Amino acid sequence: MKVILLGTAAGGGCPQWNCACPLCTSALAPRTQDCVAISADGVGWYLLNCSPDIRSQILSTPPLRAGPGPRETPLRGVLLTDAELDHSLGLLMLREAGGLPVYAPDTVLDALSPFRAIVDGYGGWTSLVDLPGLRISSLPVSDKRPKYVSSTGDGPWVVAYRITDLATGGSLVYAPCLKSWPEGFDSFVEGASLVLLDGTFYAPDEMAGVGGPDQLAMGHLPITASLARISGRPGRWAFTHLNNTNPVLDPVSEEHAAVLSAGASLPADGTEFSL
Ligand code: MLT
Ligand code: MN
Ligand code: ZN
Repeated sequence: MKVILLGTAAGGGCPQWNCACPLCTSALAPRTQDCVAISADGVGWYLLNCSPDIRSQILSTPPLRAGPGPRETPLRGVLLTDAELDHSLGLLMLREAGGLPVYAPDTVLDALSPFRAIVDGYGGWTSLVDLPGLRISSLPVSDKRPKYVSSTGDGPWVVAYRITDLATGGSLVYAPCLKSWPEGFDSFVEGASLVLLDGTFYAPDEMAGVGGPDQLAMGHLPITASLARISGRPGRWAFTHLNNTNPVLDPVSEEHAAVLSAGASLPADGTEFSL
């Protein structure tokens, strides 16, 4: 299975348009909003989440560009982990391809119904039911609801996916939104070839610097807590969905070094894996 990290930042990206914090005004390589592309055969591709940056992410990733026919695209569908805008607004951007197959938990699809109604005017979505060559399992991981949602439905509001390539046996766990280290997660990640974890915040008080709420209230387990879970454990761990307040964005920071020395990585946009 080929895996390409199209975007590795949290909502807003880095830099974020309305933020003048030191990281947003630094010369660091920009990061676009969290989105992943996967393919079993290198020909048909599926998106895990669909960021508002999807147009530029597709155009800067040769295997995702349109062709060979004039209106053919290698995109075969989209799976959503949740209904957050940074993970789903790209579905509005992809309206030109009417009938795009989409899979998400029912609660997430319900939350997105206002957006779906808009896309219906352009050809709508269909249901993604089959991913040839891949086996998908999902685990509900959080009750975090997007701010725009008023329903208090039971969920699941956020899931993690485990995707296994049936030919190679390689597997990816994608968990960009973790409020805690959830029940059942240890066995869900057991033996995975690559685990992408929620790396929104490094430490529990990070949003204070830009006048925000603490990030546990925002529903994101800090990296420090995840590192305690993975340190000394075999496996390939990486953090994505990095917020623009996160000091690990700076490759010379001690926080960045702490992540690497715990055996995890902080891959940049465009990083590719073969599992
Ligand atoms: C989140 O991950 O907490 C949300 O995407 C925040 C947001 O609304 O941008
Ligand atoms: Mn987000
Ligand atoms: Zn900032």
